[in-house]
Amino acid sequence: MHDLLITNARIFEPDFAAQPQAEHPPRRADGTRPELCDIAISGTIIAHIQPSAGVSSAPTPAPTLAPGLAPAPARRTIDAAGGVVFPGFVDCHTHACWSDPHGDHRLDEWAMKLAGRPYLDILAAGGGIMSSVRAVRAATEAELTEQLLGRLNTMLRHGTTTVEVKSGYGLSTRDELKMLRAIDAARPHFRGTIVMTALLGHALDPDIDRARFVRTTIDETLPAVASEFGTDMSVDAFCEQGAWSLDETCELLARARALGFSVRVHADQFTSMGMVPRAVELGALSVDHLEASTPQDIAALAASKTFGVALPACGLHVDGRFANLARLTRRCIATNFNPGSAPSASMQMAIALAARKCGFLPLEAIDAATANPAELLGLTDRGRVLPGARSDLVMSSLTDARSLALRFGENHAAIVIAAGRVV
Ligand code: NIG
Repeated sequence: MHDLLITNARIFEPDFAAQPQAEHPPRRADGTRPELCDIAISGTIIAHIQPSAGVSSAPTPAPTLAPGLAPAPARRTIDAAGGVVFPGFVDCHTHACWSDPHGDHRLDEWAMKLAGRPYLDILAAGGGIMSSVRAVRAATEAELTEQLLGRLNTMLRHGTTTVEVKSGYGLSTRDELKMLRAIDAARPHFRGTIVMTALLGHALDPDIDRARFVRTTIDETLPAVASEFGTDMSVDAFCEQGAWSLDETCELLARARALGFSVRVHADQFTSMGMVPRAVELGALSVDHLEASTPQDIAALAASKTFGVALPACGLHVDGRFANLARLTRRCIATNFNPGSAPSASMQMAIALAARKCGFLPLEAIDAATANPAELLGLTDRGRVLPGARSDLVMSSLTDARSLALRFGENHAAIVIAAGRVV
């Protein structure tokens, strides 16, 4: 007896970035399997997928499946009624842990941006990221956890079942550890999955001498994170004018690699600093942002195993500039959810924007929100609807997967299933 059976599902099929096209037939234009299927879930896993006994959406059943079997018995059945079932979205870049109980602490900054003041000017004047640093330093760990959980649950309701969450608003050993503890403490209370990243090089504390601040981060904060949390996570930095320089970023990331961390980096958000080729040399998992990348930066990325991550909500909110990742195959999109540059929790919005602004076709944008980021985060048990995969699913009433990118501003996640449970 299965725990849950979803009948008459139109299953979205990603093209897997790492898998050569030759190993599987091209997918159909609407991005779904040729027949409606029943998905049987046992515990947290998709146990079985078979063609539904009823209607078929196309004449040819998939060759690997025996057609038309009676539905497997299950404790609970949900009829998808021919709606597309997507893998749960994997949001691989967020700053969802910050302190802002009323959701408005950077509204003044937005007013400045609307009046034409650049993001980096606001940061240089001690606002922007530094406003959130002050708020996080004043908050308790429990307050951070509680607010983070509120945001994670909003994300879950919009179909995001795996969320990467960065620290980075602490900028001291004590406060970075506090953020990481707060993120870690949210795990047992969240139905989805949290992936934690130590964003140790996010900004420079203006109250501390620059060289001393960088040394403390590399020589004290980084080892303290390793000793409390181990090295099974990524270390991240923001390489930009007014933030971490190229050399400072490379030193932090190289030291992190030497300790056993994987590394990621925010690069080319406003300025191409030469970080992309250096990140590739360092074996970074990803380079995120890329709005100001040169053709040479993108070529270096395209020739590497490092993922490019587009953050289009940031372009929409900050200044209308977007990464163009059309030349990459290893590419993801993410919300970049944060109170300053991307106040949006919705992967559906990111998908819609990426399909319009970042060089993704609609189905490619959905791949870049599911299978690709699952690979980037090393979570190969998800991101596709397959037997043996974790049953993180988004049920919709859409009949063509491309409509997810077409119809923006609605929540298409009618039912979300995380680890086998309806949320
Ligand atoms: O990725 N640019 C650096 N970090 C974030 C913004 C954080 C903030 O403004 O609070 C980003 O856009």
